[in-house]
Amino acid sequence: MPIIKKVMAEELVIRKSQEKKERYGTILPQLEALISSESDMIANLANIAAVLKESMEFFWVGFYIVKDTELVLGPYQGPLACSRIGFGKGVCGRSWEIGESLIVPNVDQFPGHIACSSESKSEIVIPGKRNDTVFLILDVDSDILNYFNETDNEYLNRVMSLIVARHH
Ligand code: SME
Repeated sequence: MPIIKKVMAEELVIRKSQEKKERYGTILPQLEALISSESDMIANLANIAAVLKESMEFFWVGFYIVKDTELVLGPYQGPLACSRIGFGKGVCGRSWEIGESLIVPNVDQFPGHIACSSESKSEIVIPGKRNDTVFLILDVDSDILNYFNETDNEYLNRVMSLIVARHH
């Protein structure tokens, strides 16, 4: 009985990740088309946040924009969020500092994590760069522990690449 349960759980995880891939695969060309006809970055970020929130099962999805020494809240979908994050602070500030994506399976175990909502359990952060300098952060939170994997990392980086190509 425990073996069957384990197999079933594994199958469920595989099916879930395939579904996720398909969903990303469907929205990616649509996002590209959507932003190709609009030149304003804030308008595009707002629509991208809306499409990601509606298509994927995210708790919070949005952008932080680098302004001087801080990240300032940009377009997002989800509950109220903190307006400003310092360099190196929280998951977003750390991703800005190192210039790399971060997947946090359990936010309670990330030193310095900034909790905008106690319902947020796991997180992924993707930096966007112009000439090797981070100018934008994509932040996604889930209310499920360990929700994000390499599929999210790959596709959310592709979303960020679309934004960078349009607004470099
Ligand atoms: N958790 C983030 C802060 C932003 S909210 O999740 C929307 C962080 O630690 O940087």
